[in-house]
Amino acid sequence: MKKYILDLVVTQNIKLHANYVLIKMTQANPLPEMLPGQFAEIRIDGSNTTFLRRPISINYVDKKTNEVWFLVQLVGDGTRKLATVKQGDIVNVVMPLGNGFTIPKDVTAFKPLLVGGGVGTAPMLMLGVELAKAGCKPTFLLGARSSKDLLQLKEFEKLGEVYTTTEDGSMGEQGYVTGHSLLNNNSFNMIYTCGPKPMMVSVAKYAKANGIECEVSLENMMACGVGACLCCVENTDEGHLCVCKDGPVFNIKKLLW
Ligand code: FES
Repeated sequence: MKKYILDLVVTQNIKLHANYVLIKMTQANPLPEMLPGQFAEIRIDGSNTTFLRRPISINYVDKKTNEVWFLVQLVGDGTRKLATVKQGDIVNVVMPLGNGFTIPKDVTAFKPLLVGGGVGTAPMLMLGVELAKAGCKPTFLLGARSSKDLLQLKEFEKLGEVYTTTEDGSMGEQGYVTGHSLLNNNSFNMIYTCGPKPMMVSVAKYAKANGIECEVSLENMMACGVGACLCCVENTDEGHLCVCKDGPVFNIKKLLW
């Protein structure tokens, strides 16, 4: 897909939690087509410690308002600076980058489970929207440290059934997503997942053991975002592939996990 370097205008910056903001951006022209699972490289202006763009997954594209949403976790100087943008500010964004999750043309008998952990729930919203548009009802299994870290639940609930786990037991079942009782009901035939690597490895093991197709969205460290610096490589059955260019979404059959 063609990539664009865009000066987007911030329409809203919503603080969802001490460590997360939801930034909505637009431009005068229609936004380019984007697939669920793709990401953007966002330039951090006004920082003397952040030289590289930050890779942020596309959370949702609102076609009616011509807005793209980014859910940003504040993890370092770059994302903390990005979180200070205000309505009307201009943000330079390269997008859409990477591939996207696979959605079958025929969704008859397609039963997808979308598993997200932490900020890895971000791409699951757009994926859920696209699956619903395609005609199937997604089921979500979302995990976080505590109830306040479970983000955008109302948005997910509009699309399908939502199950949750928290490490402290403050919402849903206590523990990790891979221990949720929903997984005893083995009726899913596709799992999409994004989140911390140990979680995705566990989900992939579950999928393999149960003969379920599974795609994971990797979050390897990135710099250029376009396949030039090779800092994001993952070992696969085809050798080293760039997560930014050949991914971030991979079928688990490709990975050497
Ligand atoms: Fe540079 Fe992937 S981030 S090659």
